[in-house]
Amino acid sequence: MMKISTIRLSVQQRRIPLPAFLQFSVALFLLCVSNQINSSSSFTFDPSGNMVTNTKKVLVTGASGQTGRLVLKKLEEDSRYEPKALVRTEGSARRLVQSEINVPLEHMIISDIASPNFEKDLPSGLEGLEAMIVCTSAVPRISQRSLLKAMMLAPLNLVRRKKPIDFKSLQFKWKHNGYPEIVDYYGQIKQFNLAKKLGVKHVVLVSSMGVTDRSHFLNNVGKKSDGSGDGDILVWKRKAERYLVESGLDYTILHPGGLVDGPGGVQQLELDVDDNMFAKYPRTCICREDLADLCVSSLEFGKAKKLSFDCIARNVEEGQTRRDANMVLQNFLEEAKTANYR
Ligand SMILES: NC(=O)c1ccc[n+]([C@@H]2O[C@H](COP(=O)([O-])OP(=O)(O)OC[C@H]3O[C@@H](n4cnc5c(N)ncnc54)[C@H](OP(=O)(O)O)[C@@H]3O)[C@@H](O)[C@H]2O)c1
Repeated sequence: MMKISTIRLSVQQRRIPLPAFLQFSVALFLLCVSNQINSSSSFTFDPSGNMVTNTKKVLVTGASGQTGRLVLKKLEEDSRYEPKALVRTEGSARRLVQSEINVPLEHMIISDIASPNFEKDLPSGLEGLEAMIVCTSAVPRISQRSLLKAMMLAPLNLVRRKKPIDFKSLQFKWKHNGYPEIVDYYGQIKQFNLAKKLGVKHVVLVSSMGVTDRSHFLNNVGKKSDGSGDGDILVWKRKAERYLVESGLDYTILHPGGLVDGPGGVQQLELDVDDNMFAKYPRTCICREDLADLCVSSLEFGKAKKLSFDCIARNVEEGQTRRDANMVLQNFLEEAKTANYR
């Protein structure tokens, strides 16, 4: 890289009679050009067309999951960010690299947050991380036996004019070592500790609506019919949130309503706190695309803040204009609301 003084000298050596201020302008211009030629980087622009000078390194965990993958895609396409993607298995990493997202291999980190050695064995490449978006979660799997039983009862239920499949009778299981206490509590805590260790300033956590209600039906998922066994997914998620809130890190905790797939950017986003929207609206869903947009917006608007909110999406009413995730988050910040953890 050329220094300004060198450039000024070369201008003077050629005895070009330029006034001092013009010499400086020429030098500055040459410096810019030389920087462009000498470094491999090129000018990059964010989605609003503003020039980006510094990229922000962000780790997305649970990056192979349905929401994590969308967040990762958005960051890969946004020149403001240099994403890293944490996935549990080599197979997940391969699928992301070969997917339409085309994630460069050097962006992948393979690690199991349930492993006792998670913090110790973590590969290099995470230096200089500024933020972390946590999308990991225990994933319930339907028990094949309970599904078969429910399907066999379907004709009888139809005769009895009942719903053919009784969803409440279905049973769910967790992967080995993949139940909520291990993944949604200890696994999240390990990630927050890692954030502290790495000097990450801001953690964005995808949790869930319903965490204020211990009797929420999702807490029964994975338990046996007598109530024993591993479950309480929302209870463990809330405990992890508390840990983050008390950690001293800056955080943005998102509590989405029921997640659905579908095109983002269509519905009106609504934010509130403390599960208030359950009483306000008959339907409290949000599509994963919109949730991913809110996660990315949180990187900018939630920075240096301690913020926790619920999010859903509703049809845009007649005469209303849809507000994008940035706008919704900015407006919400003006209300100075955040979830109550007392
Ligand atoms: N589904 C809903 O209606 C709903 C509603 C509200 C909130 N939420 C919450 O929203 C978040 C996103 O949901 P989603 O359905 O998009 O997620 P998802 O597809 O279930 O993804 C979860 C991710 O966590 C990863 N993971 C699990 N255990 C791991 C471990 N030990 N080490 C590393 N990674 C691990 C999974 O990887 P593997 O696939 O390799 O295990 C997967 O990539 C979750 O926290 C979910 O609980 C969901």
